[in-house]
Amino acid sequence: MNTPVYDFVNKYKTGGSVRLHMPGHKGMGGLGCEKLDITEIAGADELYDAEGIIAEAEDNTSKLYGSGRTLWSAEGSSQCIRAMLYLAVYGIKNTSGERPVILAARNVHKAFLYGCALLDIHAEWIYPAISSGSICGSPVTADDVAVAIDRLDSMPAAVYITSPDYLGAMADIKGISEACHQRGVMLIVDNAHGAYLNFLPESLHPLSLGADVCSDSAHKTLPVLTGGAYLHISDSAPAGLQERAKQAMAIFGSTSPSYLIMQSLDLCNRYISDGYRERLEKFIEKLDSLRNRLQSYGWQLYPSDPLRLTVSSDAISGHELAERLRRDYNIEAEYADSRFAVLMLTIENQADLGCIDEAFKLIGQDLQGRPALEQGRPLPYPVCPVRMSIREAILSDYEEVSPRKALGRICAAPAVACPPAIPIAVSGEEITALASDWFISCGINKVLVVKQG
Ligand SMILES: Cc1ncc(COP(=O)(O)O)c(C=O)c1O
Repeated sequence: MNTPVYDFVNKYKTGGSVRLHMPGHKGMGGLGCEKLDITEIAGADELYDAEGIIAEAEDNTSKLYGSGRTLWSAEGSSQCIRAMLYLAVYGIKNTSGERPVILAARNVHKAFLYGCALLDIHAEWIYPAISSGSICGSPVTADDVAVAIDRLDSMPAAVYITSPDYLGAMADIKGISEACHQRGVMLIVDNAHGAYLNFLPESLHPLSLGADVCSDSAHKTLPVLTGGAYLHISDSAPAGLQERAKQAMAIFGSTSPSYLIMQSLDLCNRYISDGYRERLEKFIEKLDSLRNRLQSYGWQLYPSDPLRLTVSSDAISGHELAERLRRDYNIEAEYADSRFAVLMLTIENQADLGCIDEAFKLIGQDLQGRPALEQGRPLPYPVCPVRMSIREAILSDYEEVSPRKALGRICAAPAVACPPAIPIAVSGEEITALASDWFISCGINKVLVVKQG
């Protein structure tokens, strides 16, 4: 597959032009990549009005994913999420003064809340029948979605699902998309953790399973620089979305998107088209055997997407496990909480499988005979009463208080640790005793609440 953006910049790099344009480093500096960091010079195209090399490369990505249209983001899925919300609500005539409603599984990333604040959207939450016991998981089913849509007085602008979630749990996107489409509702998926899912022997990518629009953080699971992401619009998405999508991205993006990130996205097209499917399949086989070995050493493996190891044990907390991996084996996990340590792998970790195996074997041996930890019963998801709109709360004056003092107060900005950046209480909700317990159990000691008086 061709790489027009990468080729253009490399030609410019060696052409010896006098750089009387931005950026100010003029191609020099200590990072070593400055020569490749350009701006919208002649021939370089323009991300938000792409007609040349960027349009061609985005089209290549679209072909790889079989989408109706794919747009690049140099500002992560966070930008795509805001754009997807815009695509769900633009054109809705707000004659009754009511906010457009998006029906969402509760484990949204905080970018969703910021998007709701900017666009003055009301989020109705879908809660799973059974709590996952983790703030990361909100395992809603197709039935939960159907019931939630049917319960509303009017149609929501969209249903919004996060899948895979931070622990790697995957929602039944096929069933959920059918439930949505039977009711004439569009399905949006935050697939930040699943850009690679399209290249499995049987695609598990949300677009293949019926989502209308989805965002992928290419940088999370593909060899792309941090910030590189895709907004995909399905061929069968509601009319007008493909045409509006660039405008939607432009509203929330910088007018100076990084050409380094765009070159990286461009090179990733070639990487994917050049035998990635086969390499991925082989790597996943190896990872599956590693999973089996870890289980044989006594570790529990949470069901997750294929490129993730979500590991726990009754004898050690996720935090301690991640700490021991770091301290004793120089292994840095993506995320840990009281139960799980989450390891995110890609094909680039091929050479690391042996040391992961060794580390878990030795830690497992060391834990033998250690009594099981006192694991309190998992807290149910905190369902808090709504006292003001997300927008009002996020734009309000706030103060910082401890989780206990936050009791009964209205959440202003989402208090979350990043990762996983999933709000425990949503802006505008009254903080209940359960939410306060959640803050404490997640190690959050400062909560932003709306100032009184
Ligand atoms: C589920 C989820 N959605 C969205 C995002 C935002 O993605 P990005 O960092 O690409 O902006 C993240 C980031 O971790 C995430 O975990």
